[in-house]
Amino acid sequence: MPFRLIYSSEATPGLAAAELEEMLAESRIRNQVYGITGVLLFVEGAFLQILEGERDDVLGLMERIERDPRHRGVKVFYEQEVDERAFASWSMAYLSPSAEEVAKWAELEGATTIGAVLASIESNPGRLPVMVVNILKTLAAP
Ligand SMILES: Cc1cc2nc3c(=O)[nH]c(=O)nc-3n(C[C@H](O)[C@H](O)[C@H](O)COP(=O)(O)O)c2cc1C
Repeated sequence: MPFRLIYSSEATPGLAAAELEEMLAESRIRNQVYGITGVLLFVEGAFLQILEGERDDVLGLMERIERDPRHRGVKVFYEQEVDERAFASWSMAYLSPSAEEVAKWAELEGATTIGAVLASIESNPGRLPVMVVNILKTLAAP
């Protein structure tokens, strides 16, 4: 059964767009090798990443990601086996939505800053399935 892990973190201040792009390109290559799929959201300086794969591969990757100086304040708030991968076709999809969009995806009312949105998602893990569905819809949109 695939394993899914979701965490949030804050980008290190001053992280340049070019560094982010390079990190994403390297990640996609490595993820293909290790059979990792998922999505990375970059929202107003915060990351929200969904990683899927074999349990040991996901946990091994998460250890490396936690040590990465390009971000800090890593908070893992979901780790679970799932029936199937949601992001099977993406070695690492990337979206840079507004906090309001993420709130809409998670069907949260009234949260407008990314801090508030993440706090709501973290304390309401029941919002995660609908958020995943809405992220997939956004990725599928032309
Ligand atoms: C927000 C963020 C997301 C990342 N996502 C991935 C990823 O999906 N796959 C990956 O191989 N590395 C990812 N990385 C990079 C890893 O932290 C790490 O640099 C990379 O796996 C190489 O491992 P190493 O530094 O131990 O050699 C990410 C880094 C950051 C800051």
